[in-house]
Amino acid sequence: MKFFIDTANLDHIQEANEMGIIDGVTTNPSLMAKEGIKGEKAAHKRYKDICNLVNGDISAEVIATDFKGMIREGETLAAIDEKIVVKVPMILDGLKAIKYFTGIGIRTNCTLVFSPGQAILACKAGATYISPFIGRLDDIGYDGMQLIVQLSGIFAVQGYETQILAASIRNPIHIIKCAEAGAHVITSPLEPILALLKHPLTDIGLEKFLADHQKANG
Ligand code: E4P
Repeated sequence: MKFFIDTANLDHIQEANEMGIIDGVTTNPSLMAKEGIKGEKAAHKRYKDICNLVNGDISAEVIATDFKGMIREGETLAAIDEKIVVKVPMILDGLKAIKYFTGIGIRTNCTLVFSPGQAILACKAGATYISPFIGRLDDIGYDGMQLIVQLSGIFAVQGYETQILAASIRNPIHIIKCAEAGAHVITSPLEPILALLKHPLTDIGLEKFLADHQKANG
């Protein structure tokens, strides 16, 4: 399972990248706004900076919601760097845009996927990735992980080439369960990734090793 980091924050991207486990980055308009990035020029610069930092796929989301607008924006985004994957929302014009981009060799990430039906349509249109949002389903009382399990089953039967990019990750358990369920990729903020590192017995064990070494060596 690949690890993408879900942020537009360069420090977080750098830190995760230095851990040596990062295979790509996803961003969205909310994450860009959180970093204070305003306007197309600043957004494009940030995407380029991210591409220069990370060796992997970098998702950049279109703002337009109509077919022509998405095509125009997506082609511009794809021209920034060959690592760019154009992120397109799961709406009717988004589906048409994914089909169009697939036809001209631009890779896509279909975002805001919340049901198996939406996922199947995105696969049929040729999306490179689909992003089912686990945390946001949990937030409204649905079992987000169950969607990942269901999609893994569908993908195994159908043999889709599209990759399941589990998104809206809120905690380390989400990541572990995605690995169990067979997600191809998870995208997570830095905190749940760092939380995977932690175990109290590791800290206690290390403290004891160092104390014993100190006793023996003075
Ligand atoms: C996916 O690509 C999105 O950027 C992201 O995972 C959304 O997560 P959130 O529900 O925590 O905002």
